[in-house]
Amino acid sequence: MRHFHLIAVLAAATALLPAAEPVSYFEDVRPVLQVHCSGCHQPANKMSNLDITEYAGIVRGGAKHGNSVIQGAPENSPLVSLVTGKMEPRMPMGGAALPAEAIELLTRWIREGAEDDTPAEAKAPQAPSEPPQYRQAPTITGLAYSPDGSLLAVGGFQEILLHKSDGSGIEARLLGRSDKIHSLDFSTDGKRLVAVGGTPARFGELQVWNLDSGKQERSVTATSDTLFAGDLSPDGTRAVFGAADKSVRVVEVASGEELFKAGHHEDWVLQAVFGIDGKRIVSVSRDRAAKLADAGTGAFLENVNFLRDKLYAVARHPRRDYVIVGGEDRVPYLYTMDRPRALKIADDSTLIRKFEEQDGTIFALAFSPDGSRVAVGGVSATVNVYDTESGDRVATCKGHDGGIFVIAFHPDGGQLATGGFDGVVRVYEAESGNEVKAFVPVPVESAESAADSKRAG
Ligand code: HEC
Repeated sequence: MRHFHLIAVLAAATALLPAAEPVSYFEDVRPVLQVHCSGCHQPANKMSNLDITEYAGIVRGGAKHGNSVIQGAPENSPLVSLVTGKMEPRMPMGGAALPAEAIELLTRWIREGAEDDTPAEAKAPQAPSEPPQYRQAPTITGLAYSPDGSLLAVGGFQEILLHKSDGSGIEARLLGRSDKIHSLDFSTDGKRLVAVGGTPARFGELQVWNLDSGKQERSVTATSDTLFAGDLSPDGTRAVFGAADKSVRVVEVASGEELFKAGHHEDWVLQAVFGIDGKRIVSVSRDRAAKLADAGTGAFLENVNFLRDKLYAVARHPRRDYVIVGGEDRVPYLYTMDRPRALKIADDSTLIRKFEEQDGTIFALAFSPDGSRVAVGGVSATVNVYDTESGDRVATCKGHDGGIFVIAFHPDGGQLATGGFDGVVRVYEAESGNEVKAFVPVPVESAESAADSKRAG
């Protein structure tokens, strides 16, 4: 009898609830999903491509059933069918069924319209509507010249600034939601700009910009941390990038669809590039490895090499399948992606040339458009330019006040632009190392920073 009594009380309580208050997604539903489901359905581990940690992800649903919630119709919602076991496999997969009250809560929330009452401050941020105001110049981690050489794109804070490449002014400010941009790539026709970045400890994002309209065509978020430097395939259809979750990912630019996620590294993957025909990828990581993978499937092909220290940068030769890598051991290494003979892994048969040791960790590498020069920068605050063939140093570019994080050659090969910790863009002549121009790429408000930019310019 006691038992019966308990059931009766529960039933009565349940019956009373609807009259009392509608179910809240944020207060009631989200915590249930967080506890029982998010282990397998979150940005870093999206089983069946379902992210259950955000309202939009729940509605969007997974790979198999599509929308997991049909507003007003719990009986047609896969989310409910899967937790009740009406549909197989019952969720949580392999675990105990949800308590009846939790199932009732989900059911009722959907019947009541499955509304999203997430408070604005708890949502993933939207792009700002006004350009940010700067007290000081932000660290520069993204730089790219447009293919015709007329523009220099610079990653700012929550925006990309399109400068006239002679440094004479800003053409456009592209506002996006990522705090940081870690790489920028123009499509070869100059119509699109692809940016990879994110907001540390929040989300990673790939942005696709249409430069005719000045509008963002696509924002693809991935992982719960920023994404690291990437590359656009030679035909502009795919983008590759590394991530803090140790993955290398390839995304189709037109659809934003993630084509694959490869997990061959054991630590953050800081940069990835396509081979010359877009069929292979080389990635470098803090795990000290440079790895070669199939760009179609993500399948691991081989280790280009394992080095003594963490690797931070990789650049591909513009005309052949050579890559230069660098990092903590300060030496730039030039490798071929095609191992000449079938030898043991971790041998040096892919090494073409070592360049001279730098005065600090290497963060940035870039080839000139014809591949005859390669530029190396990093903690030393100088950029050294080398002859790729001979390994001889051609020029040294000085003037930065702090580490250099990015280098870009102008398409005519005569100049290169650099950026880094001090927030100043400097343009040098590649053959002499002479500085041509220096400018702070963002409008800065305060007096000290004005002095800074004067010193810089
Ligand atoms: C242990 C891992 C795991 C847990 C925990 C888990 N799931 Fe799943 N979930 C999966 C897998 C794997 C699939 C794909 C199953 C299949 O169809 O083969 C899946 C599929 C789904 C789908 C269908 C997605 C689609 O493809 O359309 C939904 C909806 C879903 N789960 C909801 C939940 C809910 C709600 C919970 C918590 C109550 C939960 N899952 C907990 C692993 C899990």
